[in-house]
Amino acid sequence: MKERGRIEIILSYIVPRRRLVIPILLLMGVAILIFARATGEMSSLKTRSVPEFEEYTYESLLSTFHNVTQINPHKYHYIHSPIKICKANGNSEDPELLILVKSDVTHFSYRMGIRSTWGNFSINSFKLVFLLGYSSTIEALVQSENDKYHDLVQENFVDAYRNNTIKTIMAFNWAVRTCPGTKYVLFVDDDYFVNVNSVTEFLKVNATLESDLFVGFRVDNARVFRYIESQWYMTKPEYPFLHYPPYISGGAMLLSMKTAMILQNSFAYVRYLYVDDVYIGIVAYLLNINLTHSDRFVLTFASDNLDSCLAAHNYGSPDTLIQEWKIFLRRHYDYTVHIYSQQMKDILYIK
Ligand SMILES: *[C@@H]1O[C@H](CO)[C@@H](O)[C@H](O)[C@H]1NC(C)=O
Ligand SMILES: *[C@@H]1O[C@H](CO)[C@@H](O)[C@H](O)[C@H]1NC(C)=O
Ligand SMILES: *[C@@H]1O[C@H](CO)[C@@H](O)[C@H](O)[C@H]1NC(C)=O
Ligand SMILES: *[C@@H]1O[C@H](CO)[C@@H](O)[C@H](O)[C@H]1NC(C)=O
Ligand SMILES: *[C@@H]1O[C@H](CO)[C@@H](O)[C@H](O)[C@H]1NC(C)=O
Repeated sequence: MKERGRIEIILSYIVPRRRLVIPILLLMGVAILIFARATGEMSSLKTRSVPEFEEYTYESLLSTFHNVTQINPHKYHYIHSPIKICKANGNSEDPELLILVKSDVTHFSYRMGIRSTWGNFSINSFKLVFLLGYSSTIEALVQSENDKYHDLVQENFVDAYRNNTIKTIMAFNWAVRTCPGTKYVLFVDDDYFVNVNSVTEFLKVNATLESDLFVGFRVDNARVFRYIESQWYMTKPEYPFLHYPPYISGGAMLLSMKTAMILQNSFAYVRYLYVDDVYIGIVAYLLNINLTHSDRFVLTFASDNLDSCLAAHNYGSPDTLIQEWKIFLRRHYDYTVHIYSQQMKDILYIK
């Protein structure tokens, strides 16, 4: 009864006053148009940046992450940048291989462990630098570390997990600008053991075939973590698709300088994502760069895989690394040969 009454009242307003019908309809039309435009824009914005539960395609990844303007400028500057690593910064020649070790700024002992083991293996032509962000509370220590070893590349962004990709971009920038004459670059985390001899051997045999080399432990079809507790938690606005394109596990990536240059050129135009290996994977995918899987980039560290691996993850503590390194050297090399430095002999207790 009440409903009918209300409708009758409304009708009595509109219907008898015929001359009002057209203006009212017009007004309603305009209102609907404005409303539709607003919500339409919102929903098209939403589907452009957040197509929920959709799988990525080349086109959707491109339109979500790429822009012709510089949407990901790298606006940090060096605090430390070592010299005499390559020709472009004062060395007499370029190393065959440049190793860039991504290191947490607080990991002094990890860096020391690497410097006194695989990072100081003088029989190969390679150079090694560490990549650090900034932390005001320990900068004095970092300064004195660099005074002693001259091997730190550090910029003024805060050293934090969510800034991982900034660090990786710093690494590419530094490698490309400082060592363009180097043939290969290896990006590796500070909790990795690297069998530099195997890497050199691998490059000699295999890399001439592929001048656009990008090899490591390839991860295919990885699902995005939506749990807030996850270390790799990703919101939908950050990454709207269900899966990631293939990527090389960021702990260890071996690239030709040519590939590194192509990637480095594109970072400014690809939207930031804090998981650095996924980010590089997206850039590589958009550029049609092939990612090669190799089982010799192993994710677990064990005495018996150090011989055949190119890189092995998670040695535990720097002490373990040093112990294993001694065993490794004894197993592999005649340590009376002159190639060993005094420091290496000290490690091996050779008189
Ligand atoms: C590119 O970025 C600019 C500035 O952030 C933005 O206005 C524009 O809509 C973006 N273009 C595309 C195609 O996403
Ligand atoms: C690395 O080896 C050189 C000799 O080749 C040695 O003088 C130096 O002390 C070693 N560095 C470290 C950190 O052990
Ligand atoms: C990343 O670095 C920038 C620049 O130093 C800083 O503003 C930001 O807070 C850092 N991010 C995190 C998660 O600490
Ligand atoms: C070169 O690549 C092939 C195929 O991936 C592999 O079987 C071989 O072990 C590699 N050679 C070296 C020296 O690593
Ligand atoms: C990627 O690898 C495939 C198969 O090995 C090859 O056919 C293709 O040419 C490669 N693409 C590039 C850009 O190197």
